[in-house]
Amino acid sequence: MKDIQFTVESNEKKAPGVWRMRFICAESFGPVLGGQFLHLEIPNRPDMPLRRPFCIYQYDRRSVTIVYAAVGAGTEAMTDIRPGQTVKCLLPLGNGFDFKVILGGAENPRAQKDKKRVALVGGGLGAAPLLPVIGEYPAAEFHAYLGFANAAVAAVFTEDFQNAARNADLKINLFTDDGSAGVKGFPTAALDRDIGNGLRFDAILTCGPHPLMKAVRGIAVKYDIDAFMSGENRMACGAGACLTCTCAVRGADGAEHNLRACVDGPVFDLTRIAFN
Ligand SMILES: Cc1cc2nc3c(=O)[nH]c(=O)nc-3n(C[C@H](O)[C@H](O)[C@H](O)COP(=O)(O)OP(=O)(O)OC[C@H]3O[C@@H](n4cnc5c(N)ncnc54)[C@H](O)[C@@H]3O)c2cc1C
Ligand code: FES
Repeated sequence: MKDIQFTVESNEKKAPGVWRMRFICAESFGPVLGGQFLHLEIPNRPDMPLRRPFCIYQYDRRSVTIVYAAVGAGTEAMTDIRPGQTVKCLLPLGNGFDFKVILGGAENPRAQKDKKRVALVGGGLGAAPLLPVIGEYPAAEFHAYLGFANAAVAAVFTEDFQNAARNADLKINLFTDDGSAGVKGFPTAALDRDIGNGLRFDAILTCGPHPLMKAVRGIAVKYDIDAFMSGENRMACGAGACLTCTCAVRGADGAEHNLRACVDGPVFDLTRIAFN
């Protein structure tokens, strides 16, 4: 984990209320797992001392891209950040989607001979932590089920998933609430139907609104498939010290434990999490 000063290369509105920011730095960082996040200091705003957490959507050794929704004071202030400005980010944070854990403790999932099939179920900006997962485990067959409010929000993500599909075994199923892109309806209904029709998955990874993740949990339990979610708990320190982000997670002993989403998560076993 490093606290790095980045230079903003671009910060553009991509859909109503949805922005995309790319920043670069001279030093390298990482490695990064899909589902890990960064903690961004809002520049020139001493009235907002708390950093804001965002999924690492795209990255290479020297650059990071995030996609964010302007939902409050901090994210609204971020929309004013201009190219050339500097921002400080602590990264990478959290556990991320770790295939050693997801595929049952395999020491080296890349070395496994049998091809694993993984479903990625994203709702809205919840698609963000799922994209980097695809490059992380090239031996898998991925089926993405992505749901968005409308075509404008879908367009923020679809080209990146299509690009990922050029280098990976990835099938994209696109849904919108209003039918303006892809199929009208919810991604979870299609996932349920596909599994019911005999498509077998070794794991389901999900991120999005609670109703979507609850529906995924129902499907995972119904078909007895391992499932993992990335949560968006409110955070303050991002480093395990303040306990702002604690959430109840049922342990193997059946008892509920308060875990810190910033260091123990934000990825948890979906069947063990208690939604508020
Ligand atoms: C690990 C992690 C990854 C995240 N990744 C992304 C991402 O890739 N893109 C993105 O747009 N957002 C992401 N979020 C949520 C993002 O951090 C919040 O939207 C942001 O901190 C809100 O700051 P604000 O000052 O604008 O809003 P505030 O003024 O603090 O709040 C405005 C509204 O947003 C709600 N809110 C605040 N924090 C959160 C939160 N953590 N989750 C859900 N609702 C919240 C508040 O309840 C309120 O309704 C992530 C959160 C976490 C914990
Ligand atoms: S945000 Fe402080 S402990 Fe997690």
